[in-house]
Amino acid sequence: MSFWKNFFKQTSIFAAKKELGEVNLIEKVLLVKHFENKGKIINVYLSLNSHINLYDLEKLCDSVGWIRRPLKKVKIAIDNSFLTVSIFYEYNKQKYLIGFARATSDTSFNATIWDVVIHPDFQGKGLGKILMHQIIKYLRYSDISTITLFADPQVVSFYKQLGFVTDPDGVKGMFWYPL
Ligand SMILES: CC(C)(COP(=O)(O)OP(=O)(O)OC[C@H]1O[C@@H](n2cnc3c(N)ncnc32)[C@H](O)[C@@H]1OP(=O)(O)O)[C@@H](O)C(=O)NCCC(=O)NCCS
Repeated sequence: MSFWKNFFKQTSIFAAKKELGEVNLIEKVLLVKHFENKGKIINVYLSLNSHINLYDLEKLCDSVGWIRRPLKKVKIAIDNSFLTVSIFYEYNKQKYLIGFARATSDTSFNATIWDVVIHPDFQGKGLGKILMHQIIKYLRYSDISTITLFADPQVVSFYKQLGFVTDPDGVKGMFWYPL
């Protein structure tokens, strides 16, 4: 990634965090929820830090049955994303990655959200919604007005609840794959 591209990205995300006044800037994380497990409180955090442990991410993607991708390519995709959001909890001083999503962008008009995932053990607790709301918030702060994504058929209604629409004005998403 070029210096200026990276600089712009870091500056705008930092400004968003500061402006929103919600993120603990020292820890670079936002406390989003807590659960009780066997009498212990488990704090769940959201982070914009793009230094993701690729093995943890692979494990998370495995947990929802996604096809494995070469880690080298996943790293390139993350490095070239505009925004990376992860959700984790801490237990016995260990961090556990339980949610992830990222967005690519032209940094002006458009952004596309990819790889939205919450670990099955933590689904249905509102974390997917929090993850998506935060991504939208940060993208809107960067003055990006068109946010797109590709929804698997079984999650179309999850995204509809968040305000996403299918085929706006009849516009169709189209794909090209090598034969
Ligand atoms: C889709 C996913 C990210 C949702 O995360 P989650 O943490 O379970 O969702 P939440 O608990 O925040 O649910 C928010 C709302 O969406 C609804 N919802 C959650 N999953 C849904 C689904 N698959 N289909 C329809 N609605 C869904 C919930 O009922 C909830 O509604 P409510 O606000 O009226 O109670 C998660 O189920 C997941 O990781 N699935 C596997 C990976 C995947 O399919 N990713 C999307 C690829 S396009």
